[in-house]
Amino acid sequence: MGQLTNKTALVTGGNSGIGLAAAQRFVDEGARVYLTGRRKPELDAAAERLGDRAVAVQSDVSDLGDLDRLFQRIADDGNRLDVLFANAGGGEALQPLDALTPEGFDHTFGINVRGTVFTVQKALPLLNDGGSIVLTGSSSASRGVAGFGVYSATKAALSQFARVWAAELAPRGLRVNTVVPGPTDTPGLRGLAADPAEVSAMLDGMAASTPLNRLADPAEIANAVLFLASDQSSFMTGSQLFVDGGEVQVYP
Ligand SMILES: NC(=O)c1ccc[n+]([C@@H]2O[C@H](COP(=O)([O-])OP(=O)(O)OC[C@H]3O[C@@H](n4cnc5c(N)ncnc54)[C@H](OP(=O)(O)O)[C@@H]3O)[C@@H](O)[C@H]2O)c1
Repeated sequence: MGQLTNKTALVTGGNSGIGLAAAQRFVDEGARVYLTGRRKPELDAAAERLGDRAVAVQSDVSDLGDLDRLFQRIADDGNRLDVLFANAGGGEALQPLDALTPEGFDHTFGINVRGTVFTVQKALPLLNDGGSIVLTGSSSASRGVAGFGVYSATKAALSQFARVWAAELAPRGLRVNTVVPGPTDTPGLRGLAADPAEVSAMLDGMAASTPLNRLADPAEIANAVLFLASDQSSFMTGSQLFVDGGEVQVYP
């Protein structure tokens, strides 16, 4: 029997990178998984790879109407949720203070913070008591990394929401934790390089920022997400689980 047998999970941003790796891990452990994203071809490819227990729903977390349609679809299928992995997000607008624009600020906060807040709020009626909510932070939110001001502020905000929601939802036995990835080799991370020719140097620099001197594989983050999603972490709520190669806690 798998760790998530007979459970239903929702993974936002499940068509790529960390979300796809987590969706795969959940399916391998017996869950039925709804996965979302904006790009339909990537969603369809992910659902095909994951097999019969995966359901892809095209949905943008920054669009409240899309969120309503997503949860209506899950309800119409006769399902409730045991696990919510609120993972959709990214690091656009990586710029120093003097180059920030209101549009870039609103865009990144709109997806990473507003999108996550209303994903969780709108999931509440469908979440079973005793379920698990996992938010996606970032090691950059615990350090001062030039150019990461807006992005790391969105992730710091999420860790704080997790603590507050852990308090608010404890009476229902709902646990809320934040997985905190360090640099992880995903399409999203590679896309941060301004010039494709700079990807390799950028990844090497990020690897060197971790005492383990490498990037994470998305599957390594997914293992931690599974732990937080499952009963293995039954006495954890309001916590941050760092999966960062020691980047934040260890002096290299
Ligand atoms: N990779 C790292 O080093 C790293 C480190 C720390 C934290 N993180 C966090 O981990 C999460 C996953 O990132 P990743 O590295 O796996 O990047 P990725 O490969 O680009 O995956 C991002 C996922 O989020 C989805 N997404 C983005 N905006 C969305 C929106 N508005 N609505 C719905 N889905 C949306 C994308 O799908 P569509 O584009 O199709 O919408 C995609 O499935 C993010 O929250 C990121 O901030 C990553």
